[in-house]
Amino acid sequence: MKATALLSLLPFAAAVPNVTVIPLGSKDCSSWPAQIRSPGADISRYLRIEIASPEDVGLTGLLSTTSTQNWPTVGNLSNTEDYISFDVRRSTYFAKPVFRCSNGTLHMNSPDFEPISVSRDYRGAWMMLGDYADGPGYKLEPYAHEIDGVRQEGVFLGAKEKTTWGFAYERAEVCGGLPDWYTARLMGLEIDPTANHRAWGEVQSQGFLRVFEWL
Ligand SMILES: *[C@@H]1O[C@H](CO)[C@@H](O)[C@H](O)[C@H]1NC(C)=O
Ligand SMILES: *[C@@H]1O[C@H](CO)[C@@H](O)[C@H](O)[C@H]1NC(C)=O
Ligand SMILES: *[C@@H]1O[C@H](CO)[C@@H](O)[C@H](O)[C@H]1NC(C)=O
Repeated sequence: MKATALLSLLPFAAAVPNVTVIPLGSKDCSSWPAQIRSPGADISRYLRIEIASPEDVGLTGLLSTTSTQNWPTVGNLSNTEDYISFDVRRSTYFAKPVFRCSNGTLHMNSPDFEPISVSRDYRGAWMMLGDYADGPGYKLEPYAHEIDGVRQEGVFLGAKEKTTWGFAYERAEVCGGLPDWYTARLMGLEIDPTANHRAWGEVQSQGFLRVFEWL
């Protein structure tokens, strides 16, 4: 009995691995997964993004989707923007966007083929879709990780040599509305005095984002 009670008190959490972050470069798509080698075009095959090595291990492998967030700007408290979020439904039965690198930049593979960048709001450095108020953001770039000099498998997303993301849970606002999701913001950015900084709730867990070819 006692052992069971103790076990149930253990948090389902592990520390984010202490990795050395290695920029792979993003002047073209050669450092992104699944580049198509062709002389005339710089593009990758289809990619997806998943949560990797989260403190809350239950988030492992959640796939990226898109959500809309109220993103107040000076003079417009009801401004909304689209961003990349993570679907609590692991099943790929539910449609989720795929992405492609083009000309060194990650794009959503939609008719608008919107580029993805990282907001310069250091408290809300989310992956934003296309043009948005107070953009342009930082370039979203591919990185490798090393632990004690050993290269880890996978290509990880980040900006400004940061690759740790914080995840916060968002509940669907209306019954029968969109399913629950996690927001993801890049952690540890320095304050950019030229950017707008907003107040956001705390993150509950941190981890990495792995980008990989979707076959
Ligand atoms: C993380 O690793 C670096 C060396 O790779 C070391 O200098 C640093 O102290 C480590 N940090 C923690 C919190 O273990
Ligand atoms: C605020 O932004 C939303 C779009 O996000 C737009 O529909 C609305 O017209 C804007 N309001 C003002 C006053 O600019
Ligand atoms: C590729 O990106 C570079 C700079 O990032 C830009 O100068 C160039 O016009 C782009 N090329 C295409 C085909 O979009």
